[in-house]
Amino acid sequence: MTTPSVAQAYRRGSLWQKGRGERLIAFAGVRRGEIVLDVGCGTGGLTQRIAELVGPDGRVLGIDPDEARIALARRTAGAPNLEFQVGAAEALGEVARDRRFDLVFSNFVFHWIRDKQAVLRALCGLLRPAGRILVQCVSSLPALVGELSRLADPTGEKILQGFAFEDAAALAHHVEGAGLQLLLLEEQHGIHVYPTLDALLTWWQATTHGRFDPQAVEPAALSRFAEQHGDGGAFRVRETFCWFEARLAPVHSWGRGG
Ligand SMILES: C[S@@+](CC[C@H](N)C(=O)[O-])C[C@H]1O[C@@H](n2cnc3c(N)ncnc32)[C@H](O)[C@@H]1O
Repeated sequence: MTTPSVAQAYRRGSLWQKGRGERLIAFAGVRRGEIVLDVGCGTGGLTQRIAELVGPDGRVLGIDPDEARIALARRTAGAPNLEFQVGAAEALGEVARDRRFDLVFSNFVFHWIRDKQAVLRALCGLLRPAGRILVQCVSSLPALVGELSRLADPTGEKILQGFAFEDAAALAHHVEGAGLQLLLLEEQHGIHVYPTLDALLTWWQATTHGRFDPQAVEPAALSRFAEQHGDGGAFRVRETFCWFEARLAPVHSWGRGG
């Protein structure tokens, strides 16, 4: 798991993810008084923004399995209507107990979740009848960080373990298989730019919860990587990601015509 300094580094280095998350919040049309669950809230910046939007009559619960990130969130993202708990999406029954939510929000987390359909099914049970789910996640490993990871670990297995990337078609299958109605699903492409090699290394180390260790890369190999991919000193990570909105599927009651 992450150390406190790696959690801080994640918060500083994840501005692109935060920007995308703010767009997702804007799309969600969060209303005052709503009860919101933020699955995989990380260091809590977006969770705090949602808490401001729901106001004092609303409530927001942020959950994340990374204790260091939750500790940082609790220290820095305070509001009376905001609560953070250590917990994984796979254990929602334990962390969310018998609460029900108007909105389940999750920004760049589902690519860590292996059994997405099971988690979505569990989320159905936590939604209020008119509740909605908004998810944004990465569809495939960006080539640049794949190459970087293999410099530290030739198979990349140790560093990349835990990722569970899936494309738009697979996500649609999971949403519908979980008994949800898919309202919208889009695949998009984006580029995040790291101004220096150090910034890229620090962000990737933080994202992989410390599994990628820049010290494990031979200096000569790192220089070759920098020469090949540095663009005026900056590094561009090309990302393919999806976002979707879903609701509980309407229940049909077929009359017995007569
Ligand atoms: C890229 S960060 C995104 C954090 C936050 N949502 C944001 O947008 O800043 C991914 C987060 O997912 C969390 N995570 C990983 N596996 C998870 C799981 N199985 N259930 C819930 N969260 C998970 C990680 O600990 C990490 O904080």
